[in-house]
Amino acid sequence: MRRFQTSSLLLCVVAATAIPIVPWKVKCPPQCVCQIRPWYTPRSVYREAATVDCNDLFISAVPEDLPEGTQTLLLQSNNIARLEQSELDYLRNLSELDLSQNSFSDVWDFGLKSMPQLLSLHLEENQLAELPDGSFPGLGNLQELYLNHNQLRRIAPCAFSGLGSLLRLHLNSNLLRTVDSRWFQMLPSLEILMIGGNRVDAILDMNFRPLSNLRSLVLAGMNLREISDYALEGLRSLESLSFYDNKLVNVPKRALQQVPGLKFLDLNKNPLQRVKQSDFTNMLHLKELGLNNMEELVSIDQFALINLPELTKLDVTNNPKLSFIHPNAFHHLPQLETLMLNNNALSALHKQTVESLPNLQEISIHSNPIRCDCVIRWVNSTENHIRFIEPQSTLCAEPPDLKRRHIRDVPFREMTDRCLPLISTKSFPSHLEVADGDNVSLHCRALAEPDPEIYWVTPSGVKLIPYAEDGRYKVHPEGTLEIHGISAREAGLYTCVAHNLLGADTKSVSMMVNHSFPLSEDSLELVVADVQAYHILVAWKPHLNTISSNLTWSSFLLSSNLDMTNVARIPMGTHTYNITRLHQDTEYWACLHVAFVDLQAKVACVNARTKEAAHRYWLLEGRQSLLMVLVLCLLLLAASLIARYSVGAELLRGATAVRVVYPPLAQPWARGQRGGQLLAVEVQAAPLDC
Ligand SMILES: *[C@@H]1O[C@H](CO)[C@@H](O)[C@H](O)[C@H]1NC(C)=O
Ligand SMILES: *[C@@H]1O[C@H](CO)[C@@H](O)[C@H](O)[C@H]1NC(C)=O
Ligand SMILES: *[C@@H]1O[C@H](CO)[C@@H](O)[C@H](O)[C@H]1NC(C)=O
Ligand SMILES: *[C@@H]1O[C@H](CO)[C@@H](O)[C@H](O)[C@H]1NC(C)=O
Ligand SMILES: *[C@@H]1O[C@H](CO)[C@@H](O)[C@H](O)[C@H]1NC(C)=O
Ligand SMILES: *[C@@H]1O[C@H](CO)[C@@H](O)[C@H](O)[C@H]1NC(C)=O
Repeated sequence: MRRFQTSSLLLCVVAATAIPIVPWKVKCPPQCVCQIRPWYTPRSVYREAATVDCNDLFISAVPEDLPEGTQTLLLQSNNIARLEQSELDYLRNLSELDLSQNSFSDVWDFGLKSMPQLLSLHLEENQLAELPDGSFPGLGNLQELYLNHNQLRRIAPCAFSGLGSLLRLHLNSNLLRTVDSRWFQMLPSLEILMIGGNRVDAILDMNFRPLSNLRSLVLAGMNLREISDYALEGLRSLESLSFYDNKLVNVPKRALQQVPGLKFLDLNKNPLQRVKQSDFTNMLHLKELGLNNMEELVSIDQFALINLPELTKLDVTNNPKLSFIHPNAFHHLPQLETLMLNNNALSALHKQTVESLPNLQEISIHSNPIRCDCVIRWVNSTENHIRFIEPQSTLCAEPPDLKRRHIRDVPFREMTDRCLPLISTKSFPSHLEVADGDNVSLHCRALAEPDPEIYWVTPSGVKLIPYAEDGRYKVHPEGTLEIHGISAREAGLYTCVAHNLLGADTKSVSMMVNHSFPLSEDSLELVVADVQAYHILVAWKPHLNTISSNLTWSSFLLSSNLDMTNVARIPMGTHTYNITRLHQDTEYWACLHVAFVDLQAKVACVNARTKEAAHRYWLLEGRQSLLMVLVLCLLLLAASLIARYSVGAELLRGATAVRVVYPPLAQPWARGQRGGQLLAVEVQAAPLDC
């Protein structure tokens, strides 16, 4: 949008500098300057204009005896408060009159009644407060009217009557509270309308309907919260639209469907939190889209932009919370060449996002907290010929050993092609205070390879999976938890878990409702739910506001001399644990250690004896010792496998954001996966008696 206008402006400047300004040899009024200057008509036709420049002279009346051939009269920044027809009548060729930054407060003091030759009139930065019906009589050829930066509170329905040739109208930065479609019935030729910077909070249906020739509409800085579905109806020729700096929390997608010819759309600086599925869809002529400077934007969801066949440039920059772009956020953007994503909170951009853009030429991802792991490893692929904008500031922020390395220099080839989920730290806060009855949305997003699954755990330990609806709770498939009409009962610690087969990342938020935050009350209790020869199933009740839980176990017999205690981190929302690979007929201790958000920790223990294995497992008595050896060898093998494949916990972001790595062999589906850069051993081998 802004670009669209500045580029034509730029053109003028370039052309203007090429044409010399020459003196106009006439009798010039004192202090004024008379020159032949380049001039462009409102339709951008070049002319040379006999110009009288009386700007910045502190005069309170139009100078007398202006040269008769004056085409442009500049009276900007003076103290003129009144003007009579007779003062300008004799300037038959006057096409532009600039009275901006003067002292007009009443349109009746502006006494031009007939100036059919006038094309351009500047009245911006005066003190006009009201425009009555027929404010501009006898200006039938006027093409440009600048009324911006006045004090206009009221414009009568027929204020603009007689301005049938007007192409450009600037009403921005006034005190208007409504936009009246009757004003526009007088302006059938209008192509550009700037009406931003007025305190209008709603655009009504059909508001611009008479403006079928309008090409550019600027509704910037207006407090707009919502755009009704038919607000833009009738704008058949609209190519450029700006909603810059408003209060829109949703993309006005239905309204946008009414302007199929749109090429440039500016939604910058609006408090959108998410760009949701099909927010931008089937806009067949859209060329440029701006989603910049959005303080609240967290996520661009799956299929957010679909079928925009002419989109060539997408600008999504300077969004301090934008931490997630879904791998399938873009679908059918065959012409997209430039993707600007710098200065966001992105830890990665998925390979699939890039691969979904067949014509991508250049990309800007610098000034993001990029985690240089396998998700971003596509940047080092030989197949991609994408140009990186500002490669010198495209740096890794994590992991610690690659911090500040240029992303292009990272030896990605040596990395595994699988990596742990990482929940974006900026996606939701760690503390939140809400009022009773509020609707709360928490956006949890994570990238990993393979794609992670996300679930939430409530303060009371209930696990909420996507698509599930549970009372006031709803989890959306992208990871957003909605709590509808929260009450004090729902206060407490909420934890998001993102996991794939390598492990999990968690991030919690403690939520106070009307200043109340419940504390854990009852004591911890661990029970034995099932005992067999080689496993013991333990279970416990969910507890409020749990941060982390570990289970430890050991056998009396073996731990006394070998001092081997097993530890498993318990994934959030899990309330049972199957302790496997135990010895038959052996006494074990198991303890649950739970840490709570208020820094308390509790422990509960239980003991049980595994059953004796059924006799049929033991073959012939005489071969028992041989079998024992075989079993021991197998156990040894298992132990060495555990040691090899064990991966560790990585404490990245303090107590509320902890990466958990599951004990690998305890989870059959994790068998054989290696977590490339993780080293610490989490689960020790089952005790072996050799
Ligand atoms: C006004 O413009 C016309 C056409 O360009 C020109 O012929 C005429 O001389 C101009 N009048 C004056 C007073 O300069
Ligand atoms: C990939 O990384 C290696 C190691 O730093 C580097 O030598 C190579 O040029 C990179 N390849 C591409 C295509 O960037
Ligand atoms: C919560 O959402 C419901 C329905 O979506 C709405 O009626 C209600 O006003 C909202 N409450 C608040 C406090 O915004
Ligand atoms: C919670 O606080 C709000 C505003 O501070 C108040 O209107 C409401 O009555 C309070 N609700 C309860 C249950 O205390
Ligand atoms: C516990 O693990 C054992 C051995 O892997 C298995 O046979 C048993 O079914 C498991 N029990 C539960 C409840 O998962
Ligand atoms: C569980 O183990 C981790 C890693 O050893 C530790 O940081 C955490 O404090 C433990 N939690 C409890 C409740 O013992």
